[in-house]
Amino acid sequence: MEAVKIGLLGLGTVGGGVVNVLTRNGREIARRAGRGIRIAHAAARDYNSDAIHGLEEIGRITEDPFEVVEDPDVDIIIELLGGYSPALELVLRAIDNGKQVVTANKALIARHGNEIFAAAQRRGVTVAFEAAVAGGIPIIKALREGLAANHIEWIAGIINGTSNFILTEMRDKGRDFADVLAEAQARGYAEADPTFDVEGIDAAHKLTILGSLAFGIPLQFDKTAIEGITQIDALDVAYAGELGYRIKHLGIARRTGKGVELRVHPTLIPARRLIANVEGVMNAVLVKGDAVGPTLYYGAGAGSEPTASAVLADVVDVVRALTTDPENRVPHLAFQPSQLVDTPVLPLEEVETAYYLRMAALDQPGVMARIAGILGEHGISIEAIQQKEPEEGHTHVPLVMLTHRIREGRMNQAIAEIEGLGTVKGKVVRIRLEHLAG
Ligand code: HSE
Repeated sequence: MEAVKIGLLGLGTVGGGVVNVLTRNGREIARRAGRGIRIAHAAARDYNSDAIHGLEEIGRITEDPFEVVEDPDVDIIIELLGGYSPALELVLRAIDNGKQVVTANKALIARHGNEIFAAAQRRGVTVAFEAAVAGGIPIIKALREGLAANHIEWIAGIINGTSNFILTEMRDKGRDFADVLAEAQARGYAEADPTFDVEGIDAAHKLTILGSLAFGIPLQFDKTAIEGITQIDALDVAYAGELGYRIKHLGIARRTGKGVELRVHPTLIPARRLIANVEGVMNAVLVKGDAVGPTLYYGAGAGSEPTASAVLADVVDVVRALTTDPENRVPHLAFQPSQLVDTPVLPLEEVETAYYLRMAALDQPGVMARIAGILGEHGISIEAIQQKEPEEGHTHVPLVMLTHRIREGRMNQAIAEIEGLGTVKGKVVRIRLEHLAG
């Protein structure tokens, strides 16, 4: 049978990885797919030809990605440009032209996935996006297929490699934030705009997608609560460690009786949990299903060949599916399109979690009692409390507390009252805490 023809948009870090892996493993991949796979047409403005092996096998390389999506010879478009525009126009055009699409673009799927999947459904083509979440980890396949028998209760994931790399290096080596971020950029982990990594936006894109797959709800990026790692102080990393916790940037999707929580933020987690020991650029996703219990998926969340691994796995799926009735393919969001439900996504004030609090309080009789009193009045129960040594020349001492679970809205009120006390200086540092017990 004739080889399937790929149109590849982008020859950067991931595009280069796709060419390299296909050049190296093409025969084995063809044995799995049932057909050979050839890159017939690629679009890129510039690329590093020394780092890509097999460029000579590509039929044509042009600068204009629209030329590739209009090429009648191309069967599958691999979109690796990232960003919203022109990626959205290109993907919709490819669908219109009846082409299958594989994309690694999480921002595009999180924001425009509902529209893209509806168009693909109408045209009878597939849009595959395994590489959009957690790089090389086959988490989308796991959720959509491997766990299809389960009622998914919650997901907690380390899904931004750059943030995890920064937090790990800060903790282990005391390195400076900016210096570690520069290294992540040089290694090709970070987004084109690295604020997407450190402000939590990239993780929120991925969590939005995971939440839809887990709960059968439309993609709702705008309702995902987002907090990044830029406010994390080395002091809190150290105090959390003394208390037996690690601070990780987590994406959490949880089903509750009232709705669905979708949130990304720094989180204290017990140091003994496997996921707390996921270091550097590695990603991990912990999924709790009612039948299977907790399952953990671990691997490289970014980088050239790990991401190419997921892209090419999608290509294999799509090639196999080319012989299958479009109506009976695995649905884009795991649930049949007509079966998506409108369970509300809860505002952060409605979310229930435990907390780590740090504040600077005057070292005087009654101060601690007053703070504990405010927490008590708001129904907040303290799990642990520690008074740290004052820093030299400071009149206030750091007070560190762990609380039991409470609704965020009540914690906001308590923190506002504590910050209003004359005996407490500045802002209360608040980091959410999850036990992630199976
Ligand atoms: N910037 C992303 C990360 C790359 O650091 O995880 C993979 O999506």
